[in-house]
Amino acid sequence: MRTKAAILWEVGTPWSVEEVELDDPQPGEVRVKLASSGLCHSDDHAVKNDIPTGLPIIGGHEGAGVVEEVGPGVTRLKPGDHVVMAFMPACGHCRWCASGISVLCDYGAVIMSGLPIADGKPRTHARGQGLMRMSLLGTFSPYAVVHQDSCVKIDDDIPLELASLVGCGVATGFGAAVNRAQVGPGDTVVVVGTGGVGSSAVQGARIAGAEHIVAVDPIPFRREQAELLGATHSVASMEEAMPLVTELTRGVMADRTILTASLATADMLKPLMLLTRKGGRACLTSTANPGIDKVELLLVDVIFGQKEIVGNVFGGCNPHADLPRLLSLYRTGELKLEELVTKRYSLEQVNEGYDDLLAGRIMRGMIVF
Ligand SMILES: NC(=O)c1ccc[n+]([C@@H]2O[C@H](COP(=O)([O-])OP(=O)(O)OC[C@H]3O[C@@H](n4cnc5c(N)ncnc54)[C@H](O)[C@@H]3O)[C@@H](O)[C@H]2O)c1
Ligand SMILES: [Zn+2]
Ligand SMILES: [Zn+2]
Repeated sequence: MRTKAAILWEVGTPWSVEEVELDDPQPGEVRVKLASSGLCHSDDHAVKNDIPTGLPIIGGHEGAGVVEEVGPGVTRLKPGDHVVMAFMPACGHCRWCASGISVLCDYGAVIMSGLPIADGKPRTHARGQGLMRMSLLGTFSPYAVVHQDSCVKIDDDIPLELASLVGCGVATGFGAAVNRAQVGPGDTVVVVGTGGVGSSAVQGARIAGAEHIVAVDPIPFRREQAELLGATHSVASMEEAMPLVTELTRGVMADRTILTASLATADMLKPLMLLTRKGGRACLTSTANPGIDKVELLLVDVIFGQKEIVGNVFGGCNPHADLPRLLSLYRTGELKLEELVTKRYSLEQVNEGYDDLLAGRIMRGMIVF
C-alpha cells in the first residue's frame, strides 16, 4: 500500500515526510494503523548520531494503534485488536525472556539494525531504496508492518492516542523509579532531567510513596510541569540540589537518584553519586554517546559508601506484564498521561515538534494521525 512516513536520510538533516510503499505483513507480522506517535528524545539522538542507526530510517518508536491485517502464523493478534508497540520486542523464550527479564531479550541485538526480525529485509520503500524502521517500529507513519512480538494487546477502553506513551517514555521513566531504582515509601528521590522520561520517573516515585521528590532541570517550564506531576521540590542543577537534599535529609542524602537528562555525559556521574546516600542507588537512564568510556567519579565515595549504580532499558519492564498495568494506573487516575502531552502535531509538523522539544517548550509532543 501507499502511505507516508518521516524519514531520516542522512545524519544531521531534518525528517523528510514523503510517500512510501509498504509491503504486506510477512509470517509473524501484523499491519497496524497507528493512532499516534510520541516524540521521544531518542529519535533526535539518531539524527545527531548519538544513537548510531542504519540509514535511511523511518523514525518513531512510541506508538499505538489498531491491528488491520495479520500475516501467516500470527497467533496472538487478530484484526481489530488494540495494541501498544514496545520499543524492545520480547520473543518470550530466550534465556532472558524465560527468566522474567524480557527487556534484555536477545532481539535487542537486532533492534538497532531497524530491519525485520523474520528475514532482515525492509518492508518499506522510497526513492527505490529499502527503509529501516526505528526500534523495528517506525511510528512516524500512519501505518507500520511490525512483528507480533513488538506488540502488546491492550483493552479497548484505553484511549489509543495516549496509550502510545507507554511504548517508551512513560514505561522507561516509571520503571526507572519503580523497577530499577526500587523507590520505596518515605524515600527521598532526585530526578535529573524532567522531560517526558524524567517526569514519568517523578510519577513512578510519587506512586511508590516517596516523601521528597526533587526535580532537577535547567528549564523552568520542565520544573513547573514536574511539580504538577508530583515533584515536591525543583531546582535548576545538581549543584543547586546538593544543599537542598542535604537539608531535606539532614545530611543523609537521597535514597534514590535517577538520571534522565537529555544526554548522559562523563561529568554527570560524580555529582549524581554525591547526591546519593550511602547504601543508596543511582539509576542511569539517559542515552550516552557510545564513544564515552571514561567518567568522573569519586571512587572512594562509591566504594566505601557502598553505593549502587544500575542501568536501565525500558524501565526494566516486561512489556506484556507491565504495559497493561501502567494503563491500569492511568485508568485509576494515578498515572497522568494527558497532562504529559503539551502539544499535538501532524506528521508534516514533526520537525516543528522536535524544535519545540529541544527548546523545552513542551513536555511530550505527540503526532496524531
Ligand atoms: N534507557 C532507555 O531505555 C531510554 C528510553 C527512552 C529514552 N531514553 C533517554 O532518556 C533521555 C531523556 O529522554 P526524554 O525524551 O525525556 O528527553 P527530553 O528532552 O524530553 O528531556 C530531557 C531533559 O533533560 C534536561 N537536562 C539536560 N541537561 C541537564 C542537566 N545537566 N541537568 C538536569 N537536566 C538536564 C533538559 O532540560 C530536558 O528537560 C534521553 O537521553 C533519551 O534518549 C532512554
Ligand atoms: Zn524512547
Ligand atoms: Zn527473548
